[in-house]
Amino acid sequence: TTPLRIGIAGLGTVGASLARLLQTKTDSITRRAGRPIELVAVSARAKTKNRGFDASGLAWYDDPSALAREAEIDGFVELIGGSEGAALECVRAALERGVPVVTANKALLAHHGVELARLAAENGTELLYEAAVAGGIPIIKTMREGLSGNEVSRVYGILNGTCNYMLTRMEREGLSFDLCLKDAQDLGYAEADPTFDIGGFDAAHKLGILTSLAFGTEIDADSIYVEGIEAVTAEDIAAAGELGYSIKLLAVAQRTDTGIEQRVHPALIPAAAAMAQVSGVTNAVAVDTDLLGSIMLAGPGAGGDATASAVLSDIMDIATGVVLPTLGIPADKLQPYVRARMRAH
Ligand code: NDP
Ligand code: HSE
Repeated sequence: TTPLRIGIAGLGTVGASLARLLQTKTDSITRRAGRPIELVAVSARAKTKNRGFDASGLAWYDDPSALAREAEIDGFVELIGGSEGAALECVRAALERGVPVVTANKALLAHHGVELARLAAENGTELLYEAAVAGGIPIIKTMREGLSGNEVSRVYGILNGTCNYMLTRMEREGLSFDLCLKDAQDLGYAEADPTFDIGGFDAAHKLGILTSLAFGTEIDADSIYVEGIEAVTAEDIAAAGELGYSIKLLAVAQRTDTGIEQRVHPALIPAAAAMAQVSGVTNAVAVDTDLLGSIMLAGPGAGGDATASAVLSDIMDIATGVVLPTLGIPADKLQPYVRARMRAH
């Protein structure tokens, strides 16, 4: 059988975990995918850094766009981060070449997702992003596939692992904001610039993606009301607890009489509610639909292996040919392309 050759740009928390998984779980991955998945090319800034996997024999690129343009690959994985610059350029380069792209980069999708999804469709390829929302929780495939026959009225939840980890430790251990943030950074949960986490922007990027999937609209991250947790103190959390509430950073998108409302802000949740029990780096996403009522998925929202699990699920989809690209593109415009793909497999 023909192997699927993969290139990874970005070998930090997530990229290094993914490379390790691809090298250590080869038998089970091959069995599940029906063909080997081979890591053949990588890119990062520091070439000689030990990242816990065997880099000998892999093609090294200083420039991720050169990897995307030149390497002999069947799938390109972007794990650099950031909405502009290197990440945007290399994803564009891979898609223009017709190579499927997997990314965990919600900032990139929130700002350029529609353009990139169109670029993928125009070039007969895919843009996959399971890891971009709620880390390891398979919420994208759930929304795109499991709930595809439902009308969604509301999607909401805890979408930032760093903030939930911090709020949990502040609540349970009375620790300071700064100490909890430092621990979240040391554990690899936080963004390179943690302002995106504590300022609520990372949750907003994820909410924009969920809104697009839930309501079939183009991503509109700019219209989201965003308030982070910077002003929340251990004293606030203790006072809320005395009244029977937990403070959580909540992201909400819902259909209203005047349109779709999207907001991210700290909220008081009754301590007995399921959402209040979501602790540490765990994320939770609840979806209200017409046919199913309400469902809630919870699981690790950040961290190397948890996120690599979601990235790997997208790579498996490329290997098996089971993909349905949708991101702010109306279904009728996608149909001819989707049918063509189904014939190809
Ligand atoms: P890191 O900051 O740990 O890693 C980033 C990697 O990109 C590093 O290996 C870095 O190289 C490399 N890099 C940065 N700039 C360049 C460049 N110009 N050219 C080549 N390589 C470059 O990030 P994470 O692994 O934490 O996150 C990666 C992506 O995944 C981000 O989009 C993030 O939002 C997303 N994500 C992260 C999660 C997590 O838990 N960490 C969870 C879900 C999504 P070097 O190592 O040499 O410095
Ligand atoms: N910084 C993000 C978080 C990573 O803490 O949730 C996962 O997207």
